[in-house]
Amino acid sequence: MTLALPSQDASVFQRRRAALAERLGGKPALVFAGGQKPMNYPGNPYPYRADSHFLYLTGASLPDASVWVSEAGSELFLTPTPEDDALWHGATPSWAEIAAAMGVDRVRDRAELPEVIAAAGGPSEVASLPSADPQTRRSQDALLDRSWLAGVEGLEGVDAHLADAMVALRMVHDAAALERLREAHAATAACHMAGMRATKPGAWEYQIRGAMEAELMRHGMRTSYQPIVTVHGEILHNFDQRNQLQDGDLMLADVGAEHEGWAGDVTRTWPVNGKFSPTQRAMYDIVLQAQLDAIDKVRPGVRYREVHLTAARSLTRGLVDLGILRGEVDGLVERGAHALLFPHGVGHLIGLDVHDMEDLGDRAGYAPGRSRADQFGLGYLRLDRDLAPGMCVTIEPGLYLVPAILEHRELCGPFDADGTLNREALGRFADVRGIRIEDDVLCTEDAPEVLTQAAPKAAEAVEALVGREA
Ligand code: GLY
Ligand code: MN
Ligand code: MN
Repeated sequence: MTLALPSQDASVFQRRRAALAERLGGKPALVFAGGQKPMNYPGNPYPYRADSHFLYLTGASLPDASVWVSEAGSELFLTPTPEDDALWHGATPSWAEIAAAMGVDRVRDRAELPEVIAAAGGPSEVASLPSADPQTRRSQDALLDRSWLAGVEGLEGVDAHLADAMVALRMVHDAAALERLREAHAATAACHMAGMRATKPGAWEYQIRGAMEAELMRHGMRTSYQPIVTVHGEILHNFDQRNQLQDGDLMLADVGAEHEGWAGDVTRTWPVNGKFSPTQRAMYDIVLQAQLDAIDKVRPGVRYREVHLTAARSLTRGLVDLGILRGEVDGLVERGAHALLFPHGVGHLIGLDVHDMEDLGDRAGYAPGRSRADQFGLGYLRLDRDLAPGMCVTIEPGLYLVPAILEHRELCGPFDADGTLNREALGRFADVRGIRIEDDVLCTEDAPEVLTQAAPKAAEAVEALVGREA
């Protein structure tokens, strides 16, 4: 395959590896890139992307590679390129060129790994993390004598240290990371504007997705996750795009760019006919206010759960004003009444992964000593850390009329029984279905910086773009 070298200076990756080695207390780490997956036969693979920990440390998506990181320096292990590869894929960079671009001491054949591991004291002395790629996992199991049967929550010894070190490093973005994130976020904003412009009654969801992805391709990027582009926003992970847009529908688009591995993640909701109905507008403004209130909380030292609860209180206040919920705001939020219409968490970490480092379970999202709540809604919160400058999070409140929730006797029962949920008032908002507004926000020393600010979200600004194909 064609190998792309890192586009940022080798010193970026040298600094990151040195910082990792320093945290590992003299033990080496071996971090794997993962392998290519065939779509049907090996010559027709899915687009390849290296594992994010590997990308962070090397800057390049090299399949079947691994990087050895120790206080003594770093080495990259590769499978030698087959002789006829240049015939199909063109010339590949030499190992010396790869070593220079990544700033590693040298590139070696991965067949040498067993000797290197033995010289370091054996597999138990070498830290590693289980690859998500099954084939890579099999070679890791053999090389490192691991099975990782307990999954990432059960990581032990040197592996647990490596996971904690990666979390600490990737949690706070360095300047090189922010450079790429800003580029991904600018393209993501442009892609949402393209989606708004392409929208009109009679079009199909997949056509709007096409307009949005075309904009990302114009930036030389692809998507960082499977896009949600739908008039049925109440289906939270709706990956189907076969509906025709009707006059009066709301379009919910959750689409983000991936730029050299770095992710954008934005949701906007807009009226298909260019004008929110009064009921849609009322709920839209509540979601927008909740998003602005939550964004304002993204400041150093603030516990992210409090950011979530700020959004929940703001949404609840709006729902009480509309007569959909009855009661006093703080009490309603304490009982979780808001989760009937806002069932998910207000956001998550974002970086190389769209849900950054969730391959490590809750190790990244939850600070030591904190764990997920049992309450419906709060239990889906993916992040509960104290914010610090350099952390990047999404803020994505929403309101949804989800049949699976509203018809769920156990969830709604107590709120029906005591009259908290006013179903008659809620019934007037049937044309809403689902509204979410999502931005990527950087925590700084002072005010939060909304990295995806360029995507309009005030109701009138959104309406002004819909259907205005350039
Ligand atoms: N696009 C995935 C999310 O918003 O979490
Ligand atoms: Mn998100
Ligand atoms: Mn999203």
